[in-house]
Amino acid sequence: MLVEYKNVSVRYGCTDILRDISFTIEPGVSVGIVGRSGSGKSTLARLLFRAMDPDSGAVHINGIPLSHYQKNTVLRHIGAILQRSDMISGNARENIMFATHKEDLDNVPDSSIWNILDALTPSLRERLNGHGLDTLVGKHGLQLSDGQQQLICIARALVKNPEFLIVDEATASLDAETEMMVQQGIDTALSRGRSAMVIAHRLSTQRNCDRIIVLKKVSECEPEEPQIEMICNSPREAYELSPTYRRLAQLQGFRP
Ligand SMILES: Nc1ncnc2c1ncn2[C@@H]1O[C@H](COP(=O)(O)OP(=O)(O)O)[C@@H](O)[C@H]1O
Ligand SMILES: [Mg+2]
Repeated sequence: MLVEYKNVSVRYGCTDILRDISFTIEPGVSVGIVGRSGSGKSTLARLLFRAMDPDSGAVHINGIPLSHYQKNTVLRHIGAILQRSDMISGNARENIMFATHKEDLDNVPDSSIWNILDALTPSLRERLNGHGLDTLVGKHGLQLSDGQQQLICIARALVKNPEFLIVDEATASLDAETEMMVQQGIDTALSRGRSAMVIAHRLSTQRNCDRIIVLKKVSECEPEEPQIEMICNSPREAYELSPTYRRLAQLQGFRP
């Protein structure tokens, strides 16, 4: 999937959030987005799965503006792992298949779901012991921990076998121990060489990204200054060239 942001601008009220943003993500390339809180990272991601549309400019997929596609067509090929995991009432299988297109549902045997879950964590097989994927989870069933819920949501994104994966602060609401477990799941999800946009507070999440885009807050840019501070070809290059990236990395004790 070829993704192109072309002169994209987004405003909330009279505040510029994204200003004339252009970049390309070629098929198979994973891009890490780095920037301070409020710089517009999540907005970039929301545009791609059409939770919103830009005020001007356009996002193109395979050369065609997103607005020319049906929303379902786009969502079929994009998996999103976001900060808040939203479990539905129902069993584990229903929770995992929730985002899969109707026509694709029959093509996913339980064995494929287990393959995904086992690669993410051994703990879910233990937890679902007995009724397996028929185990009721969520509000009216077996209570899963926050981390296990988030892993179910990662499986939900992966079971579609999406061409493009979006990860946006997927561990931000978890405690440190749980974060490590979920982080391993995300590393697994990202290790398959598919296109991705990775937004992560913890820069180590992006260590295998092919490209790093450093985004500034519009309010911190000069009128003619581009909002994208830098596009780098590796985290190491970002560390060497981008003051913003290096400062964040040093705060985290991360050295790519
Ligand atoms: N629905 C909204 N209405 C008004 N302002 C919003 C809305 N969503 C986000 N914002 C503002 O837009 C800015 C950028 O948000 P966001 O893309 O979430 O940044 P980031 O993910 O980099 O922290 C923030 O200042 C945020 O307060
Ligand atoms: Mg965000």
